[in-house]
Amino acid sequence: MTGQIPEELQFLHQAEMGVGAWAWGDRTFWNYGQAYGEEQIAAAFRTSLEAGITLVDTAEIYGNGRSERYVGKFIKEMGKPVFVATKFLPFPWRWTKRSVVRALRHSLERLGLEKVDLYQLHWPSPVVPVERYVEGLAEAVQAGLTRTVGVSNYDKNQMQRAYTVLAKYNIPLASNQVEYHLLDRRIEKSGLLDRCRELGVRLIAYSPLGKGTLTGKYGPGNPPPGLRGREYGHVMKDLPALLALMTEIGQEHGGKTPGQVALNWTICKGTLPIPGAKNAEQAAQNAGAIGWRLTPEQVKALDEASDKFTK
Ligand SMILES: NC(=O)c1ccc[n+]([C@@H]2O[C@H](COP(=O)([O-])OP(=O)(O)OC[C@H]3O[C@@H](n4cnc5c(N)ncnc54)[C@H](OP(=O)(O)O)[C@@H]3O)[C@@H](O)[C@H]2O)c1
Repeated sequence: MTGQIPEELQFLHQAEMGVGAWAWGDRTFWNYGQAYGEEQIAAAFRTSLEAGITLVDTAEIYGNGRSERYVGKFIKEMGKPVFVATKFLPFPWRWTKRSVVRALRHSLERLGLEKVDLYQLHWPSPVVPVERYVEGLAEAVQAGLTRTVGVSNYDKNQMQRAYTVLAKYNIPLASNQVEYHLLDRRIEKSGLLDRCRELGVRLIAYSPLGKGTLTGKYGPGNPPPGLRGREYGHVMKDLPALLALMTEIGQEHGGKTPGQVALNWTICKGTLPIPGAKNAEQAAQNAGAIGWRLTPEQVKALDEASDKFTK
């Protein structure tokens, strides 16, 4: 990376891990309200912060606004500072740059905040040019509604375009949030991760546990439930060998779990993972992935064992 990391981006570069809030209120994908509810997710939030997690990632679309409302409520109840990241969804009816600031104001209302720390474009729009929404991000910074801005699910080219627009306003592109874990290493193979390093853009790794698949609780005879089963069904056959290596490596670190090894691997790659947690136990276990590092040899062994999962 050329030059120093700007002061306003330090919080993202200093954070080792965040907590993802998609499952907090989402009934469609995560079945919120069935095996877990408000009491459990409040405990997940509290446990994360007590364990040293400094960033929470939500989005206006998560649970149709419920996730943002819960995050706002938990922040108020706990009274401990935490950096808040949320996201703008490119709904088809949002085709002006003004829609970005408007959506952010609604998110702030739900969160009960005057400003967020990171506002991200959730996906590139198939119809609205990258430049238009990014102009909206610049307006959001200028209006004092967010400290920093980022993108999500942007490829190398789209990210470069966003970076260039913001540079005109002297605003750094803070982050690109994309899927990254041992079963999905597309960003290494496409060069996106390298490009982020060169530009000083923090790569935020979403679904860093492969939506739970890398915790070791799922396998060929016990695939993940619902939509996740469809997404990860094809990896089940080869998963046990990878999990065996992760378990062995975890033992060398005093009994770290496969999930903790999976998260630490993303940290060793220079990314910021934001695992989801549905309860205090999951949050505590995930937080056990920070404060230590895999050796370069262990990272290499995991690279070799996981290479086949990403074509
Ligand atoms: N920008 C985007 O497009 C995008 C897309 C996806 C996610 N995200 C962000 O990334 C965050 C994390 O991704 P994710 O929720 O998709 O997947 P993830 O973090 O890989 O997996 C989370 C799920 O794994 C299980 N789990 C978590 N910790 C566990 C533990 N210690 N032991 C056992 N099981 C555990 C839980 O589900 P079960 O208990 O049901 O197995 C949990 O909901 C989201 O909350 C969201 O903030 C962003």
